Order: sequence, then structure tokens, then C-alpha cells
Amino acid sequence: MTRIGFLGVGHLAAEMITGLLRSGLPADEMILSPRGHGPELAERLGIALASDNGALVAAADIVLLATRPGDAVAAVTGLGWRPGQILVSACAGVPLADLRAAAAPAEVVRIMPLTAASIGASPTTVHPDLPALRPLLARLGAVIPLADEVGFETATVSAAIYGWAQVLIGLGRDWSLAHGLAPETARQLAAETFVAAGRMIAERPEAVEALLTSLATPGGITERGLKVLEAGDVEASWIGACDAVLEKLTGAPASTRRA
Ligand SMILES: NC(=O)c1ccc[n+]([C@@H]2O[C@H](COP(=O)([O-])OP(=O)(O)OC[C@H]3O[C@@H](n4cnc5c(N)ncnc54)[C@H](OP(=O)(O)O)[C@@H]3O)[C@@H](O)[C@H]2O)c1
Repeated sequence: MTRIGFLGVGHLAAEMITGLLRSGLPADEMILSPRGHGPELAERLGIALASDNGALVAAADIVLLATRPGDAVAAVTGLGWRPGQILVSACAGVPLADLRAAAAPAEVVRIMPLTAASIGASPTTVHPDLPALRPLLARLGAVIPLADEVGFETATVSAAIYGWAQVLIGLGRDWSLAHGLAPETARQLAAETFVAAGRMIAERPEAVEALLTSLATPGGITERGLKVLEAGDVEASWIGACDAVLEKLTGAPASTRRA
């Protein structure tokens, strides 16, 4: 049995634990650190609770780190890591080198899951792509490996875009509500429209531009609204927001990292 330890049991870890249980991972293959939601989840879900972080590392083969980024290195330091253990960090912007120095001789991997892990729908980025970790991550949704850490950092911006997409869905729901749709209809329609747009691009082979051309009929409703969005310079705002997130993650201007 491979035992999974959660070091830092807050919002993200709770969603991941929900997803792992939903995927059929037995509760007794997990162990939780004793802060945050750890005690409550252990009690409610029948998962073991470690007495402290050293006991957690002693009991686990794979340790998922999900503290706030600023707590990450201190949280993994001095815990008696063993060869063959894997430390999997979900902490945004915390470099591999810092974690490797603190958790040697464990192998260190970075991932960026989304809260959709709870429903098995997280596109989880990973670097390096360790084969031993694939089966665990695949329980939470699509696994997207990145060849290097620079690319991993760029890909991490998508975790913020996930939140922006939910804001747009909320705006769509609110607009429909204000124009008379029933609340459940407005919510379902707004959400399923984004799911449909994403699935078409994820699952159809055509170029993204070709898919858009096929639906933006000249003189039609899609084109009418796109003209309003273009006049509002939504594209420049979107790129600016992505650049701002990458700068926060790396501490460097996004323009210096463009391909
Ligand atoms: N939330 C998301 O959707 C999301 C998505 C992708 C990645 N992430 C990453 O996941 C990490 C956690 O985010 P979050 O939103 O889950 O934060 P959170 O809710 O604040 O959870 C962090 C947890 O870590 C615990 N903690 C801190 N230091 C600890 C230590 N030394 N030992 C044991 N537990 C410790 C905290 O316990 P106390 O409450 O006792 O301080 C808290 O329960 C962040 O690094 C973030 O970048 C989050």
C-alpha cells in the first residue's frame, strides 16, 4: 500500500481529499497533518491523523504539501525525509530548488491542481513528470506534464484563469437573472455554456481559430457581441491580468519570459 500524507490541510487539501475518496482511494491509505481542517476531516471521513508533521512524514510514502506558499519551506524542514519518498508541492510559486534543499533526500515534484479535483475534473499540471505519481494525479482529472519549471510557472497562471472563468460565469448568470430567467436555469445555462466551449476545444481536432470562425457568422450574434468586447479592449486587459499573475509567481516581469 502506498500511503498519501497531507501536510497542510486547508481549502485545497480538503477538495483533493474529497476527489481521492470519490475516485475510490480508501480512507486508510491517507493520513493528515493535525492543523487546519485535519482533525475535523479525520474524524468525519475516518482518515488517520498524525500527531505532528514528523509522524506524518514517517508514515507516508507520498506527502502532498498544501500550506500557504510562505509557510512551505519551513513546514517541510527537518522532518526526517527518507530516500524513495516523494514530496508533492501544490504551493504556488515555491521553487523546486528550495523544497529539494529542505526535504532531501526525498524526490520533489510540483503540481498545480484546481479545486475541481473534488469532482475528478482538475487539469493538474506537474513537473517533473514522475511515473510513480501519475496514477494518483489521474484520480483527480487530466494530468498535464510540463517539461521544465519555467513552463510550469507559466502554466500556473491557468489556476488564476479558472477563478476568472467562474467570475464570467457568475456575470452571465446575473445578466440572465436580471433579464427574467429562473435562478436555476440561469446558473445551469451560464455554467454549461463554458463547459461546452472548453470541451469543444479540448476534444475536437480543428484549430481554435477555425472553431471560432465556424460559429461567428458574419452579421450574426456572436460577431455583434465580439465587436463590443473588442471596443472595450478586453484582450489587452486579459493579457495584462495573466502578466500580473506570472510576475507575482516569479518576481520577474512577464515580458522577460515571453517565447
Ligand atoms: N485554494 C486553491 O484553490 C489552490 C489551488 C491550487 C494551489 N493552491 C495552493 O495550495 C496551498 C494551500 O492553499 P489553501 O487555499 O488550501 O490555503 P489554506 O486554506 O490557508 O490552507 C493552508 C493550511 O496549511 C496549514 N499549515 C500551515 N503551516 C503548517 C504546518 N507547518 N504544518 C501543518 N499545517 C500547516 C494551515 O493551518 P492553520 O490554519 O493552522 O494555519 C492551513 O490549514 C497554497 O500554497 C496555494 O498556492 C491552492
